[in-house]
Amino acid sequence: MRIFLIGFMGCGKSTLGRSLASELNLTFIDLDSFLEEKYFKTIPQIFAEEGEESFRRKERNVLEEVCGFDDVILATGGGAPCFFDNMELMNESGFCVFLDVDIRSLVSRLIHAKIERPLIKGKSPEELHKFIEGLLAKRRPFYEKAKYILKGSEITPVQVLELLDK
Ligand code: S3P
Repeated sequence: MRIFLIGFMGCGKSTLGRSLASELNLTFIDLDSFLEEKYFKTIPQIFAEEGEESFRRKERNVLEEVCGFDDVILATGGGAPCFFDNMELMNESGFCVFLDVDIRSLVSRLIHAKIERPLIKGKSPEELHKFIEGLLAKRRPFYEKAKYILKGSEITPVQVLELLDK
């Protein structure tokens, strides 16, 4: 079984993925961490030294690799579903769950987050709100290709487990 958790930065993919993995006895993979380990560079470093395009190619490469693993739950980076035919690849390899978290919750989580995210670095809460609104509108059509969509301010493991039981 392969489960892909997708959605905007700050929607809780990694936190949810970790608890689901222990619940379902699956291996949890965070695509961003997997990529950083494979290329011996942090994501902010890749963005700064090589640019976003190079990051997206690396992201595609690691996604292809992970799609060959069995019994995994994968938290992708927020942009991963929106480049190349990554959504098609994920839909063919397993099933995708889009964590459709409202913008206010995203903003408040991203403001308090400790991880450095190159796309939102240095933005004030107001700028962040506007930025998310714009980018989410562009990304939504990709995210909505997921087999399942869960909406809310915080998605719980139980909600995902209920989908699997259906
Ligand atoms: C990105 C999201 C990040 C990371 C990179 C780009 C994006 O992952 O892949 O900074 O384009 O939305 P998270 O969604 O885990 O923050």
